[in-house]
Amino acid sequence: MNRAEAFEHWIRTSFVQMNTELENLYFAQADRDQVIGCGDPIKSNLRDEGHAHVVALLAEGNTGDGFESAFGVLGSVGMYLGALRRHELTNPMREEKSPFPEASSLAMHVGASLGMAPRFSTGHLATYNKARAGVRKSFTTLADEFLFIDENTRGILSLQRAADALTCVVHLGVSSPAVDVMFDAAKQALGDVIRCNDRLMRNLDVARFFYSVRPYYKPYRVGRQEYRGANAGDFSGINELDLILGLCRANDPNYAQLLVDKMLFMLPADQARLRTCMTFTSLLDEFLLLIDDYAAADWFQANAAAYLEVCDLFGQTAAQHHNSPVKRFIEAPAGTLKEPALRGITASGPPLPVLLRSLEVLRDMRLAADRSDIVTRHVELDRLRKAVKAYRQSGAAE
Ligand code: HEM
Repeated sequence: MNRAEAFEHWIRTSFVQMNTELENLYFAQADRDQVIGCGDPIKSNLRDEGHAHVVALLAEGNTGDGFESAFGVLGSVGMYLGALRRHELTNPMREEKSPFPEASSLAMHVGASLGMAPRFSTGHLATYNKARAGVRKSFTTLADEFLFIDENTRGILSLQRAADALTCVVHLGVSSPAVDVMFDAAKQALGDVIRCNDRLMRNLDVARFFYSVRPYYKPYRVGRQEYRGANAGDFSGINELDLILGLCRANDPNYAQLLVDKMLFMLPADQARLRTCMTFTSLLDEFLLLIDDYAAADWFQANAAAYLEVCDLFGQTAAQHHNSPVKRFIEAPAGTLKEPALRGITASGPPLPVLLRSLEVLRDMRLAADRSDIVTRHVELDRLRKAVKAYRQSGAAE
């Protein structure tokens, strides 16, 4: 076993066991938020055992074993730092730089070599989380964490599948008869997203998620800089859908800011996909260019109706994410917390009301809602809906 593999083996075994023991200690207390002063011997072991792996890898100074190995080391050191943050062995609010300089150096070295933020990201726990004999990498062995990881992964894979399908539509052009299969594939994939969100809503324990899973996704410092936590949105597919459907635009200053901010949290392959996607004309703009001359054509009716159905389903996924999991698992339990526990409960760091407003803006852009304070495609989508006879006859436009 080389050093990178030894570190990952530790992450998959002792690290997970220690975190689980700590979570059970915290959760059994009257005040589940009381982390400082609870389980100190376990925390020291976690810190020291991880440190030994970090120092060995740092001395080796080798990030050149290919993408898989470097990405794996970034995940291991990132999960280690994420756990130190969760157990309050570091807290960016009371420090100006990370108290773990060796782990920071390793993370920065590997992160820079990959072109990614020097912390663990969603890819490490979702789409690039390799199962060994069925066991995925995780922070704990809690059933609720596995449920969260698995449903997030399924959701991400489904959104990515929808984006793949719509990318094919871009290349075929909206007047091609062959796009029907790709619109169908996108609809099916978005239906799967809705089902994942539903399962998560039904089966995830609110308290366990809030107190024992979510805290591993807090921001932490690497060197001097504070990096926001990972979230299920750190992959390109969701933004590819926004841009290809035409519901969000890369020249909208707020949306462009979001893209810039999340770029380094994505896998390099996703970064490249997103850059390519920014060069496409959206499907909505393609239809609008053709509407005056061809609205009555069969192909226009069929393909625009299919496009609108995809938009409706995509809007449903956005509304569902905001109105269900975010409200149930973040907003509602946060209502019972007081400062300072309330500070830093979100992955990205801003105060909860600010984060909720930004998620609401995204939801409404994806719904093409009729809002005058933000730019949505409400007017254009409405024009297309009116032009699509078949769509109107089905009653869906009402
Ligand atoms: C317990 C379930 C979930 C909760 C509580 C939750 C909550 C959140 C929160 C609070 C954010 C903002 C991140 C931050 O800056 O703190 C976020 C972002 C995001 N989440 Fe979730 N989420 C859940 C499950 C999912 C699932 C299953 C998906 C589907 C893949 C998903 C997709 C996204 C996306 C795409 C973003 C980025 C913002 C956007 O583009 O909409 N989430 N989530």
